[in-house]
Amino acid sequence: MTKPKVLISERVSEKGLALLQRELDVNFRDGIDRQELLEIIGDYDALIVRSVTKVDEELVTAGKKLKVVGRAGNGIDNIDVPACTRRGIIVANTPDSNTISAAEQTIGLLISSSRNIPQANAFVKGGKWDRKPFRGVELYGKTVGIVGLGRIGSMVAERLASFNMKVIAYDPYIPDERFVRFGAEKKNTLEELVREADFITVHTPRNQETMGMIGRKELAIAKDGVRVINCARGGIINEQALLEALEKGKVASAGLDVFEEEPAENNPLFEFKNVVVTPHLGADTKEAQERVGMNIAEQVIKALKGEMVPNVVNLPTILRQDLDFFRPFIELCEAMGSFYYQIEKAPIDRVEITYCGEIANHDKEILTIAFLKGLLTPVLSDRVNYVNARMLAEERGIKVYEKKGRKEKGYINLIKVKIYNHNYQLDIAGTLTATGEPVIVDFNGYETDILPVGHVVIAVNEDRPRIIGPFTTVFGDAGINIAMMRVARKVKGEVALMVVNVDAEVDSDTLARLKAIDGISNVKVLSF
Ligand code: NAD
Ligand code: MLT
Repeated sequence: MTKPKVLISERVSEKGLALLQRELDVNFRDGIDRQELLEIIGDYDALIVRSVTKVDEELVTAGKKLKVVGRAGNGIDNIDVPACTRRGIIVANTPDSNTISAAEQTIGLLISSSRNIPQANAFVKGGKWDRKPFRGVELYGKTVGIVGLGRIGSMVAERLASFNMKVIAYDPYIPDERFVRFGAEKKNTLEELVREADFITVHTPRNQETMGMIGRKELAIAKDGVRVINCARGGIINEQALLEALEKGKVASAGLDVFEEEPAENNPLFEFKNVVVTPHLGADTKEAQERVGMNIAEQVIKALKGEMVPNVVNLPTILRQDLDFFRPFIELCEAMGSFYYQIEKAPIDRVEITYCGEIANHDKEILTIAFLKGLLTPVLSDRVNYVNARMLAEERGIKVYEKKGRKEKGYINLIKVKIYNHNYQLDIAGTLTATGEPVIVDFNGYETDILPVGHVVIAVNEDRPRIIGPFTTVFGDAGINIAMMRVARKVKGEVALMVVNVDAEVDSDTLARLKAIDGISNVKVLSF
């Protein structure tokens, strides 16, 4: 069997590369030129990048076979995630693998720029000896303002507290407890933070909102002699504004690992003695690169095998430890979704999913997505996956409502779905058996135990003798073994339901014979 093909356009660790080579057909082209990348990407199932390769609309359009883009690192500002989502391409990154390294690099830049360590190093190695030009400042008792108290910002907060710094932070998107947990005083506005800080360090993603967020206005109101650090993304501190503030002496020093244009070769900020720079080294430690390399290799392999991937950017996050818990529910929801279009042909107006019992207390987004994937697969086949299912449902005008229901008697967990079109409603409910198998326990108000695997036949019949016999005989005559059968009714003598799990596909002749049985009004064959 031919292995899926992966193109790696930037450096990954040897261990990660070895793992990829064991499982996939790997083309390792560190630093590949853009034009060539565009020419060959159409042959690949996966692409692995770091921060340099621009994964934009043009590239993903050329990458007709792409199923996954692996970002060996954290920031995804070089990836057009919506463009990938539209095409069902999974984008996975390794957000936790290099955060310690980035936090330590931040501290390194903060100390080396406030104590002039690199400048003094070059001076002494140049054969000179003097102390006066390199006099620095202590961190002790000073205030550090952290913009963005996420993974890295919070690690920086913890580390700087041990220097006896006062930590203040601005991050409008996190709960107050997070400030308390990391010993940071919450600032409600960026302005408040900027006015009070002796040191400002930024740790937000780069996006429209954060680009240039420390600009002329912020630097003007900052303390005279403020010191700034950027180990997040170039441009979050506006470079022109920083340059002007350095010229005026308003900013006493800057430590920069990242730049608006990278590689940064002729950046005018390099002219300043009090600016310490590194070439985007935040994640470049042995440990981080090993973690990043292995982590991205594992994720890309899983994605190509169709398995659940932990750090998918364009899907709700599921922690590794939660994957085993969710897996059977994901199977159940996908199977429940796949009922409708196998039964009905009319467009859907809306879907209501009610989660009852323990499952209702979890983040259910992935389950709703699994349901929508199952729902749309019979009509869109391989165009739909976990990444684009919600977007495709929206495009088709399907309104999706999620509700939390009360625990239902007899069920630890129950997922109830109502699907509406203009003149019909399909109701199904499912749960997991004691062994964790998905089972449909209610079909349009009939109590059932349909196992959504293989082939299932559902027939609506009159509730009277001489129906079940002829029905099962048709399968026998066709040489189709019945694995399981259930009859159900709501009122004695009225309309009933027969559901059978069969071991082989039901051909059109057999289906016609089932439909012709007197007393049977509707027969549907479903495959899972
Ligand atoms: P994260 O997502 O864990 O945290 C980002 C935080 O920023 C979040 O708490 C978010 O609420 C906050 N935020 C977003 N917009 C904000 C705004 N407008 N104002 C204030 N706060 C805002 O991210 P992380 O893993 O901590 O990474 C932080 C940055 O570091 C990213 O830009 C990432 O790309 C970069 N990074 C750089 C290196 C490097 O080599 N230099 C390595 C790893 C990560
Ligand atoms: C990241 O976002 O992970 C860092 O910037 C490091 C990198 O790109 O390798």
